[in-house]
Amino acid sequence: MELEKEKEKILREIKEAKNLKELEESFKEVQNKIKTFTQKLKKISLPQRKKLGKEINELKEKLEKEYLVKKEILKEKERKKEEFFDITIPPKKIEIGSLHPITLVKNKVEEVFQSLGFEIVLGPEIEDEWHNFDALNIPSDHPARDILSLGKTFYLENKKLMRTQTSSVQIRYMEKHNPPLKIVVPGKVFRKDAIDATHEIEFWQTEGLMVDKGISVANFKEIMEEFLRKFFEKEMKIRLRPSYFPFTEPSFEVDISCVICGGSGCQTCKNTGWIEAGGAGMVHPQVFRNCKIDPKEWQGFAFGMGLTRLAMLKYKIPDIRYFNSGDLRFLKQF
Ligand code: DAH
Repeated sequence: MELEKEKEKILREIKEAKNLKELEESFKEVQNKIKTFTQKLKKISLPQRKKLGKEINELKEKLEKEYLVKKEILKEKERKKEEFFDITIPPKKIEIGSLHPITLVKNKVEEVFQSLGFEIVLGPEIEDEWHNFDALNIPSDHPARDILSLGKTFYLENKKLMRTQTSSVQIRYMEKHNPPLKIVVPGKVFRKDAIDATHEIEFWQTEGLMVDKGISVANFKEIMEEFLRKFFEKEMKIRLRPSYFPFTEPSFEVDISCVICGGSGCQTCKNTGWIEAGGAGMVHPQVFRNCKIDPKEWQGFAFGMGLTRLAMLKYKIPDIRYFNSGDLRFLKQF
């Protein structure tokens, strides 16, 4: 029978279609062929017609099934082709960042002080007046509060403020811990300053506090010299100048020999050979009392260094504004 012969061919055509276009063409052709068989039906006897009619219907059904299955397969194939991933294309270069110079300096400061037996302590950037001022012996009518507060402090709601100094963490720590104490507090501080090459409204400090029995300025000097030697990786001289801070007595400014010229005088040290590194002093008895520590029993020194300033000196960065500029030409150097 003719249909029998054609059937195999027809099905093969559908199965072998290589793409959707070929499949559609074959399917159309196949349908036409079936149509010619259907037309023949009219010309044959009833019993034959019945038999052929049934066969044609079966073939039609089978074909349609095959067609739909094949269509899905080809569609999937073409979709995959569109998603083709060329593994020979060189990948985009992934840029690896580096640590910010402040982070590098903070890490180094922590490492050196830890090696000297200090604990690294952190405190909140949003402070209250007690920890930032009052407990540090800076009452509201004190002139020092002008320097550190009025006009310089960013006040928030409910008398909260952005801390102007990491010294606040001395109080927080002494309120909760009994001596002996040896802590170092790296952190960000905030001040309303006009921004220029050496002033920013936020910058980093490192506070230090050592409380024990029989502590004197000599202990501070030794610790400071050791820190500076390790931090700058060279012999450093320090100089203590009398100064005033309400939370220390006596108080002094800490100068270090100029890291640029080595002490002979240059632009950075304004030809003095010395650079200001921070403030320090012996913890004021009232500060101890505010933290319920007996000043007759315990003594201690405290210091506050500009961590941002240390970074500027270590890496010879001439302008503080580079740190927060986000300028990759600057950041890529570290
Ligand atoms: N908190 C002072 C400032 O921001 C720095 C300072 C001076 C900290 C003397 C101290 C200290 O711990 O004893 O200017």
